[in-house]
Amino acid sequence: SKQLHKDQLEAHELLAKFYHHLLMNTKEGQHALEYMLQRGFTEDQLKQFRIGWALPSWDFTSELLKKRGFDLSSMEQAGLIIKRDNGSYFDRFRERIMFPVENDRGQIVAFSGRIIDAEKDEPKYLNSPETPLFQKNRILFNYHRARGAIRREQSAVLFEGFADVISSNEWAANGIATMGTSLSAQHISLIKKLTSQVILCYDGDQAGYEAAFKAAKEISSSGLNVKVALLPNGLDPDDYIQKKGGQAFKQEIIDSSVSEMAFKMHYYRSKNNLSTEDGRLSYIKSILKEIASLKGAIDKEFYIKQLSDEFNLSVEGLSNQLGSLMPTEQ
Ligand code: UTP
Ligand code: MN
Ligand code: MN
Ligand code: MN
Ligand code: MN
Repeated sequence: SKQLHKDQLEAHELLAKFYHHLLMNTKEGQHALEYMLQRGFTEDQLKQFRIGWALPSWDFTSELLKKRGFDLSSMEQAGLIIKRDNGSYFDRFRERIMFPVENDRGQIVAFSGRIIDAEKDEPKYLNSPETPLFQKNRILFNYHRARGAIRREQSAVLFEGFADVISSNEWAANGIATMGTSLSAQHISLIKKLTSQVILCYDGDQAGYEAAFKAAKEISSSGLNVKVALLPNGLDPDDYIQKKGGQAFKQEIIDSSVSEMAFKMHYYRSKNNLSTEDGRLSYIKSILKEIASLKGAIDKEFYIKQLSDEFNLSVEGLSNQLGSLMPTEQ
C-alpha cells in the first residue's frame, strides 16, 4: 500500500543521511573515506551523490530503525534488514561503502554497497533486492539528476556503473548507468522520454565489449540513434578519467564515439585475424550481414563502398552477395 511505501522512502532517506555522516565525519568511516579519496573521488562528489558508510555491525541499522519507530517487517520488505529464523532482524548492509539509488523523482529507493577489500569472497557490490520500490530493470542510476542535461544536450551517455557516472559527472552531466550490463526495454523507454541519441560508454574489457554490441542493437532497433565510445583495453570510464583526466575523457572518448557500424567493424575485427584469408572472409561476411540489416539504401551503398575499398573487392560482387543475405519479401 501507499503508506508502506512512504515509510520505506523515509527510511532510505534517514539511512542515507546517517551513512553519509558516518563516512564524512567519523572515525569509524575514516578508512572508507580515505579509500574513496585515494581512488580520486572528491569530497564534493561524495556529497553530491550522498555516498556513505555502513558500519561493520549486525544491528546498527535495525536498531536505528526500531528506535525511530519504523515497522520492521516493512523495513524487511524494503530490503534494508533481514529476518532471522528466531524472528530477530539483522542488517543487510555491513562494512560497505553505500551508494544511494534514486528513482526518477529523486527519491532514494535502494542502496548498493561496495566492499573495500574486493578480494573477499563476497559480491563487490551488494544491491538491495527487488522490492515494491526498486526494480533494477526500471531504474537507471543518476536518471533524476541527469534528466535536464540529457534534454539540453539531446544525448544520454550510458555507463555500466556508479563510479563511471560519478567521476564523469563534471564532464558529462548527462551520464546514467544500468548498474551492470543488462539493459532492459524499460530502461530504453526511460531514455526515449528525454532524447533520441545514446552514447554507449561501457568498460574496455571483453564483457563490456560484448555488452555494448548487444545493447547497441537493442537501442537502435528501438528507434534511437546510438554511438559507441571506445575505451582503451583494460580501462573503464572511471579508470580512464583517473588516469588521463576529465577533459581528455570528454574529447578523446565521448566526443570521439563512433557510429554503430564503425563499432561493429571494430568488434568483428577483434574477433577475426585479418592477416589470414579465412579471417578476412569471415570478417567480410559478418559485415555484409550487418549491412544487409541496415534500413537506408544510402547507408547500404556507403558501407558497401567502404568494404570494397578496404578489401579491393568489386562493388557489384559485394552487392550481389548482399542481395542473397537480404530477407526475402513475402
Ligand atoms: P564493474 O565490475 O565494472 O564495477 O561493474 P565498477 O563500476 O567498475 O566498480 P569499481 O570501479 O570497481 O568500484 C559495473 C557495475 O555493475 C554492478 C554495479 O552497479 C557496478 O557499478 N555490479 C557489479 C553489481 O551490481 N554487483 C557486483 O558484484 C559487481
Ligand atoms: Mn565491468
Ligand atoms: Mn567497471
Ligand atoms: Mn571493474
Ligand atoms: Mn571501475
